[in-house]
Amino acid sequence: MSTLITPPAQCFTHEQLVVRRGTRSGFAIAVAIHSSVLGQPIGGCRLRHYANWRDGVADALCMAEGMTYKCALAGLNHGGAKSVIMTPAPRPPTRDERRAALLDIGDVIESLGGHYATGPDVGTGPDDMLTIAERTRHVFCLPAKHGGSGDSSPPTARGVYRAIQAACAHRFGSADLSGRRVTVIGLGSVGALIAQALADAGAQLAVADIDPAKQEVSRRLAATWITPDEALHAPAEVLVPAAVGGLLTPEVVPSLRCAAIVGPANNQLSTDAVADLLHARGILWVPDYLASAGGVIHATTVEQDGQPETVALAEVDRIGATITQLLTTAAKTGVTTHHAARRLAETRLTAAISDRRG
Ligand code: PHE
Repeated sequence: MSTLITPPAQCFTHEQLVVRRGTRSGFAIAVAIHSSVLGQPIGGCRLRHYANWRDGVADALCMAEGMTYKCALAGLNHGGAKSVIMTPAPRPPTRDERRAALLDIGDVIESLGGHYATGPDVGTGPDDMLTIAERTRHVFCLPAKHGGSGDSSPPTARGVYRAIQAACAHRFGSADLSGRRVTVIGLGSVGALIAQALADAGAQLAVADIDPAKQEVSRRLAATWITPDEALHAPAEVLVPAAVGGLLTPEVVPSLRCAAIVGPANNQLSTDAVADLLHARGILWVPDYLASAGGVIHATTVEQDGQPETVALAEVDRIGATITQLLTTAAKTGVTTHHAARRLAETRLTAAISDRRG
């Protein structure tokens, strides 16, 4: 098998990286395109502050690679990419700054001539996609009244919920979440919906967010409010990372007190080796690029395949079966879930490459 996935670390394995200063906003913009082997590269547009623009570029590169695996494992005919708008100050951008930056990234996307299509991500939503669409048509998830599939957060959260159920069935012998001790880190648009679904199912819920205002969400869900640091080490059956940033580092793994980790946060592992450390501790990790595929699955099924909502949601629900299959394969062969998932994605990518070569 080819070593598509693990080339020497010094190799640039992406297809393209565009870094621009927005002509209107002056904000740094990065579009990272990892692979077009399976089709048009897609991935959301993240809008947030980074202490250093290089951190934003590194984040875009890493998330773009994750999108390649996400699309490959979800069976989509799309490749992986991601874009980042970097706000220069930690405060949220003003309305005018936001609009200027979105038009700027719209121009950058248009200049790629369809080789990348964007969608919402952390810090952006359907209304922002409408602004980007003033400059380019390569945009998913416009508001429904403008002909798009709308917010990708609900289908993403739905897929994560199916992933949690599949992990629980595998680990504890039951997909039932009532009474399960679950900790959710991050109550953003996806995290809050997952927490809501868990609360509805009767899970014993603890939640955390860096924003103290989110305590209100916690109160509404009758959850226990804890700090993000406590959340990482609190005893739980399932830990759900739903915030930004590589949470799982070699330093953190020894003090984790959970049985399974399943969440939508991108790039959860600080390095691939963390998958081995989790495995050695008997902690089941469901790769984020599998659990968080609901958004892209829903958007492409509705907007490209022209399928009704019911079909799109059924496609999202299949994430559960894909994960069950993966966990079974990993357990049988004694490899990490990360390794098994990469191998599966690699099989699809390699086949597509040889098809192309004909
Ligand atoms: N932000 C999500 C992701 O990157 C959702 C998304 C939907 C992205 C549609 C692109 C297109 O996976």
